Amino acid sequence: MNETLIAEPARVVLVGVDFGRDPDFDDSLDELALLASTAGDQAVARVIARRKAPDAALFVGSGKADEIKALVLGERAEAVLFDQALSPIQQRNLETHLGVPVADRTALILEIFAQRARSHEGKLQVELAQLQYLATRLVRRWSHLERQRGGIGARGGPGERQMELDRRMIDERIKQLKIRLQKVERQRNTQRKARARGGQLRVSLVGYTNAGKSTLFNALTKAGSYAADQLFATLDTTTRALYLGPDNGGALLSDTVGFIRDLPHKLVEAFKATLQEAADAHLLLHVIDCDSPKLLEQWAEVERVLAEIECADTPQIVVFNKLDRLPEGARPRRMVDQVQRPDGSRVLRVFVSAYSGEGLPELRSALAAVARGEDPAASLCSAPPPPALIDTADSPIPHP
Ligand code: GTP
Repeated sequence: MNETLIAEPARVVLVGVDFGRDPDFDDSLDELALLASTAGDQAVARVIARRKAPDAALFVGSGKADEIKALVLGERAEAVLFDQALSPIQQRNLETHLGVPVADRTALILEIFAQRARSHEGKLQVELAQLQYLATRLVRRWSHLERQRGGIGARGGPGERQMELDRRMIDERIKQLKIRLQKVERQRNTQRKARARGGQLRVSLVGYTNAGKSTLFNALTKAGSYAADQLFATLDTTTRALYLGPDNGGALLSDTVGFIRDLPHKLVEAFKATLQEAADAHLLLHVIDCDSPKLLEQWAEVERVLAEIECADTPQIVVFNKLDRLPEGARPRRMVDQVQRPDGSRVLRVFVSAYSGEGLPELRSALAAVARGEDPAASLCSAPPPPALIDTADSPIPHP
């Protein structure tokens, strides 16, 4: 049996630094903790630092660095994870100061993507993003943790391989990966064109990581897509046929990679081809966890990434998932209504629970209405929406 599968998680200290400028600053560090546990680490302490500006050498001040070091020793932590991006020099200085490996959010997300990638294309994309990130920091990171464990401290793959390579070899590998990816992309384009010729309605699920896209995908298509209470459980786009009834034909439904705040730019680049599936869709089902305390921030972040991959104008249905989690008093008065997107446009919103199935008939009939229409954009956005589907009554759920 593979030892890493039964290994204990690595003990890590989480650090968030508030510069007072980021309205999305997460002082609970809950998302970083979830990222850490997804990567196989266990958060044993959390530290918040407040500063006007980052310290050039240590990112935090030396007093705070000493406090973190004391926690590392007291908690027998094996690594420290920062919620913000560190420069290569800050990272190296912190490692020297703290005596344990230090990683930032970007490295952590890259690590998770590397663990999760399954398809040939996904693996190539992640390796490219990792090498591009590592090329800027040719230092021996994480090497002092010589143990067979999960977690940020000890991993195989490009992180370790990189240590044996010099910059020239890394550049060479990056070049090779880009050529191979271009080839895979060409094949994907051919498949996509064939699907486009099929003339079916193409619907893509998009949303913040952990919103419940895969669970909804399974509930709608009865497929066995991997759903887990981990971030980025799905990395590779999966497409299945979705039957919408005898008068409406079918649609092709795709599950895509989840978005997250500060998704490393290199990853957005690397995953553009995968996300192309979303960009090519006629309709996006934007899945939102309606029980998330960070609902608005997550919503805005997904819209930001959608704009980056040039599908801000693709018609959307907003799906407020996890309805079963809302307490009785916070439940919406209507399962289907309209809601304002951050850009001010109004879209259809359907409340569902992918768990209990509540709201799924309403979502299916909304999809069937789109499948019947010639132009989904017209039926959802410009033209008045079908009266049976729309109720503009306000819901108690907040919206932008
Ligand atoms: P990524 O792959 O990270 O992008 O996640 P995802 O959006 O595909 O989420 P996924 O379907 O993996 O679900 C995330 C977690 O939310 C899992 O633990 C699911 O069981 C849970 N979940 C999904 N839908 C519901 C729901 O309707 N109600 C409740 N209570 N939990 C749900």
